[in-house]
Amino acid sequence: MTPSDVKATLSFSDGSPGIDMPLYKGTHGPDVIDIRKLYAQTGKFTYDPGFLSTASCQSTITYIDGDKGELLYRGYPIEQLAEKCDFLDTCYLLLKGDLPNGQQQKDFHKLVTNHTMVNEQMQFFLRGFRRDAHPMAVLTGLVGALSAFYHDSTDINNPQHREVAAIRLIAKMPTLVAMAYKYGVGQPFIYPQNDLSYAGNFMRMMFATPCEPYKPNDVLVRAMDRIFILHADHEQNASTSTVRLCGSSGTNPFAAIAAGVACLWGPAHGGANEAALNMLEDIQRNGGVEKIGEFIKQVKDKNSNVKLMGFGHRVYKNYDPRAKLMRETCHEVLGELGLHDDPMFKLAMTLEKIALEDDYFVSRKLYPNVDFYSGIVQRAIGIPVPLFTAIFALARTVGWIAQLNEMIGDPEYKIGRPRQLYTGAARRDVKSVDQR
Ligand code: SDX
Repeated sequence: MTPSDVKATLSFSDGSPGIDMPLYKGTHGPDVIDIRKLYAQTGKFTYDPGFLSTASCQSTITYIDGDKGELLYRGYPIEQLAEKCDFLDTCYLLLKGDLPNGQQQKDFHKLVTNHTMVNEQMQFFLRGFRRDAHPMAVLTGLVGALSAFYHDSTDINNPQHREVAAIRLIAKMPTLVAMAYKYGVGQPFIYPQNDLSYAGNFMRMMFATPCEPYKPNDVLVRAMDRIFILHADHEQNASTSTVRLCGSSGTNPFAAIAAGVACLWGPAHGGANEAALNMLEDIQRNGGVEKIGEFIKQVKDKNSNVKLMGFGHRVYKNYDPRAKLMRETCHEVLGELGLHDDPMFKLAMTLEKIALEDDYFVSRKLYPNVDFYSGIVQRAIGIPVPLFTAIFALARTVGWIAQLNEMIGDPEYKIGRPRQLYTGAARRDVKSVDQR
C-alpha cells in the first residue's frame, strides 16, 4: 500500500486530544485511514458493526467495484476468466498470483488430480450422520475431520504444510461433497477417476453408479466448471473473514476452512442460492408469474420479513457480474437439455424484470447477485437444492485458502481481537440469595 500525502485529522469538540492519521492508497478502490494508533492516543475505539466502513486487511487477491459491477481475480476480469480459463487455472491464479503457463498448468492439474481420494476411514465417519442430514452439516463435519487424518500438513506457519493442505483441500472437496450427496440418496460412493477434468470428475462422482458406464455431458461439465470459477473468491465476505479470524489464532488450515463452511451456510450468504430456488418454487406453487405482484408486495412490507433472495449485496450496488454470467450459463444448459421453456427460469427472468423496474429495489440499488440464477442452473444439471451451498463451499475453498495464506504471510498480521462498546450493567456487588 502507498502512503498518501493527505492526512486525516481527528479533533474533538470538547478539546480532548485529537490525532493525525496517515492515509494509504491501493491499486483500485477507496483509500484507507490508518487508525491503529487511535486507541493508544485518544482512548477511544471506532464503532462499525457489520464493518460497512472498515478494511480488515490489505489484499492482492480480489477486487470488487460495487458501483461498476466489476470483479477482478488478481487483476483479471471475471468475464475473461470464465470464458478463457478453467477452474484449476483460476485456483492456480488465486493461490500463486498469476495464470499458469503450459507446463505449470499440466503439473498443477496432475498434483490436484493425485490428491482427490480421501482416507477410507472418512466413509465410516460419514456413516455416523442421519441419511437426511443437511449436506452443509455433513460437510462442516467432514472438512473439520480432515485435520484428524492429515497431521503432516496442519502447521499453518509452515509454508510446505500450507501448500500441501491447500492442494488436499482443493482436490478433496469435490469428493467430500459427492460423498455427502451419495450418502443422502443411499447410493454407493463413486471413487475419483484421474483421467477426467476437475468438474467432469465431480459430475461423475455425483451421478455415476457402479451399474453402468457414465459419460459426463461436456456442456454440463463446462457449466459446472464455470459455476466453480464464479464462486472462487470475493474479497473479505463473511465466510472469508471467518476463515481469516479463525486462522489468525494459528489453528490448522482444515479447521479454519471448516469455519468458513459453517459461516457460508447462512441464508444471508452462501445459503441464499438454496433459499432463492425455494423462493421461486414457492411462487411457482402458489400461482407462478401471476402471483409475482403479490410476492413483491410482501417483500416491500417490512413486517413480512420476506426478502427477495438472490437480490441485494453489501458491495454490489449494480448488477453482480457473476449473475450475468450465471444467466448466460442458464441459457446454455437449458438449451442443451431442451428445457428452453423451463418455467423456473422464465419465472426468475420475469421476477428480475419486475424488480428492476420497481422503485423499492431501484432506490435501494438491489440487483440480482450470484445466487439468483445459480440455483436454476444447478437444478437443471440435476444437483439437489440442499446441495447448492455445498457446491458454493467447494468452489470457495480455494479463495479461503488463498486469503488465509495471504494473512499468514503478512508481517502485519496478529490474532484478530475486535473491541466493543460496553452498554451492559454498571459494576455492582453480588447480593445473598435472600436479598435478591
Ligand atoms: C453472497 O459479501 C459477499 O461478497 C457475499 C457473496 C460472496 O461471493 O461471498 O457475494 C455471496 O452472500 C451474496 C448475497 C446472497 N444473499 C442474498 O441474496 C440474501 C438476500 N439479500 C439480503 O439479505 C441483503 O441484500 C444482503 C445481506 C446480501 C446485503 O445486506 P446489507 O448490505 O446489510 O444491506 P441491508 O440489509 O442494509 O439492505 C439495505 C436495504 C434495507 O432496506 P431499508 O432498511 O433501507 O428500508 O435494502 C433492503 C433492506 O431491507 N434489502 C432487501 C434485500 N436486500 C436488502 N429487501 C428485499 N430483498 C432483499 N434481498
